[in-house]
Amino acid sequence: MNIQKNISLKPYNTFGINVFAKQFMSINSIEELQEVLKSEDYSNTFILGGGSNMLLTKDIDKFVLHINLKGIDVVFETASTVLVKANAGENWHEFVLWCIDNDFGGIENLSLIPGNVGTAPIQNIGAYGVELKDVFESCEALHMASGEIKMFTKEDCQFDYRNSVFKNELKGQYIILNVTFKLTTQNHAIKTDYGAIGNELEKQNITKPTVKDISKAVIAIRSSKLPDPKEIGNSGSFFKNPIIPKTQFDTLKQNFPKIPSYSVSEELVKIPAGWLIEHAGFKGKKFNNYGVHKNQALVLVNYGNANGNDILNLSKLIQKTIKRIFDINLEAEVNIF
Ligand code: EPU
Repeated sequence: MNIQKNISLKPYNTFGINVFAKQFMSINSIEELQEVLKSEDYSNTFILGGGSNMLLTKDIDKFVLHINLKGIDVVFETASTVLVKANAGENWHEFVLWCIDNDFGGIENLSLIPGNVGTAPIQNIGAYGVELKDVFESCEALHMASGEIKMFTKEDCQFDYRNSVFKNELKGQYIILNVTFKLTTQNHAIKTDYGAIGNELEKQNITKPTVKDISKAVIAIRSSKLPDPKEIGNSGSFFKNPIIPKTQFDTLKQNFPKIPSYSVSEELVKIPAGWLIEHAGFKGKKFNNYGVHKNQALVLVNYGNANGNDILNLSKLIQKTIKRIFDINLEAEVNIF
């Protein structure tokens, strides 16, 4: 077993926070994982995937297991669909590109999302009108206490907006090993409803988009709004878009007539947190080496060597301000350690 001691986690989290792990090991096979868990108290381990949805505020005084399981396989095919199984350590965007190269449809709208395949179901990643749950067939996960492997169906996962059973009842109990996706091989259900995609395709004079065209459009939109973690540390949306009662929204609208919203149900509406944060005056604000991104207020950024606690304190200030101005509770989307 190749165990490293006191290593910096800076290359392993997209926020680029420089904290240290007491022990660290890259896991390349299920057998290796089972072996480690046999010899370790699992409550003393810290599971690290793509590190794209976390803010690290202190050294990790645990055994960090970096899930690096690789491999993508077509496991079943019908005339028009395909089941593709990808191991947890595959980079999400590279997996999307692999599907597009094979003309498999369904995840093109999820292009360029940072992170790995194995962590995608935990928060049911979503963008531009598609969520992971729309293409999810099943996943296999290792129960840390017993070492047993269990298969989870879509129902088992209880997917919701940026949420799943792995963030709730089963939090900290399972390690996702692989995910199987149901994708189309023909008659792709191209989704262009999300305004920005339509505009981008129009710009390029594309009237009958392929999955590749959609992917390219999404990449263009994301690159124009969201900072590239390789250049500026960030974790994508720091907060979830809040869901509030329609009655509260109607009152808010009287004071803020331009406030955007999406209907969730007859009684509930979702408000873009980016709009709230921008209108609270935080967009583009820079505090020394951290701040709020200039093109998308939902994204907090590390301009270099920022301390996780400074970013956490900024997020708390934003939450307090949004509560005061709009009486809305903003919930963090990233996991804070
Ligand atoms: N807005 C502002 N100011 C801002 C940002 C947004 O006014 O600084 C307004 C926009 O004008 C627009 C609305 O908010 O009316 C929505 O903006 P956008 O399309 O950028 O989407 P979002 O709701 O801010 C969500 C996801 C993103 C995802 C996009 C596209 C959440 C928490 N975030 O953002 O996901 O890429 O939709 O589908 O749901 C992520 O999770 O890391 C992420 C980037």
